[in-house]
Amino acid sequence: MKVLNIGSMNLDYVYSVDHIVLPGETQSTDGMSTFLGGKGMNQSMALAKAGVEVYHGGMIGEDGQAFLDACKEYGVHADYIRKVEGKTGHTIIQIDKNAQNCILLFAGANNKLTEEYVDEVLSHFEAGDILLLQNEVNMLPYIVEQAFEKGMQIALNPSPFNDKLNEVDMKKVSIFLLNEVEGGQITGLTEPEEVITKMLEMYPHAKIVLTLGKDGAIYAEGQLRYQQPIFKVDAVDTTAAGDTFTGYFLAGLIDGMEIPDILRMSAKASSIAVTRKGAVPSIPYRSEVEESLN
Ligand code: RIB
Repeated sequence: MKVLNIGSMNLDYVYSVDHIVLPGETQSTDGMSTFLGGKGMNQSMALAKAGVEVYHGGMIGEDGQAFLDACKEYGVHADYIRKVEGKTGHTIIQIDKNAQNCILLFAGANNKLTEEYVDEVLSHFEAGDILLLQNEVNMLPYIVEQAFEKGMQIALNPSPFNDKLNEVDMKKVSIFLLNEVEGGQITGLTEPEEVITKMLEMYPHAKIVLTLGKDGAIYAEGQLRYQQPIFKVDAVDTTAAGDTFTGYFLAGLIDGMEIPDILRMSAKASSIAVTRKGAVPSIPYRSEVEESLN
C-alpha cells in the first residue's frame, strides 16, 4: 500500500505582530521570517517524520526549488512534483503575542494542476493505496473522482473550507480530518457531538477526526467515539499544528495502531509543533514524540 498526497506548497512569510492588523490600520512588525509550508507539504512532512513512505504531488513555480531540497532532506518522494512557470504559492501570516495567527493565501502554482497531470500521477497508484488531499490545490473534484474510480482510499482535510468543496463528491471520502470550524461549515452546526452526528448521517461510511483546539480531538466511526485532551504547552506558533495532527494520525492508522494510541501520539506531535516557529521546521520526528510520551 502506497501513500500519495496531492497538495499545496507555500512559502510562508511570517510576521510577528502585537495584534492581528485591524481594517485600515498600518502596523510595524517585530520581525519577519520565511518558512516552507502549505497544508499539503506540511502533512507530507508530518507523515515522513512519523516514518511513513509518502509521495508528494503538486506544483511549484520557478522560485520553489527549496521544496525539492526539503523533500530530499526529510525523505518525501518528490518525483511527482512539477515546476511550472510563475510563482510558487505563498502566504502572509501574522502571529500575535498570544501565538494567534491569521493567514492570507496566494495560490500561485498550486492552482495549475491539469487533468493530464492528475492522470499521470494517479497512474502510479492502485486500489487500496491512500490518497491524502486538502483544499489548497485546484482539480479536487476530478482528483477525487479518478482516485475513487481506481479504488484508492481517500483522506480529506477540507481546509480551508470554501465553496470549491461543494463540487467535491464527499461521499467518496473514507476519512475526514478537520477542525471544529470546518466541521461547522460542512454541517451548519456548532456543538462537536452534533457536528459528528450530522457528518456521520451525511457520510455514514466515513471515519471522522475532529480537532477542537484547546478541547482536544474526537474520533468517530459509526457508534464508536474516542476523545483525546490536548497536552498543555506554551505555544509560540500554532501554524501547522493541525497538519502535524493529520500526518501523525494517518501514520498511526497505517501502522495499525489502536485509535486511542493514535490520538495520543497525534496530540503530542502537534503539542510539540506549536512550541516551535514555522510550519515544516516545527514538525517533530516520531522519536521525539515517543520520547516525550514516555
Ligand atoms: O496549515 C498551515 C498552512 O496553511 C501554512 O503553512 C500555510 O502555508 C497555509 O497553507
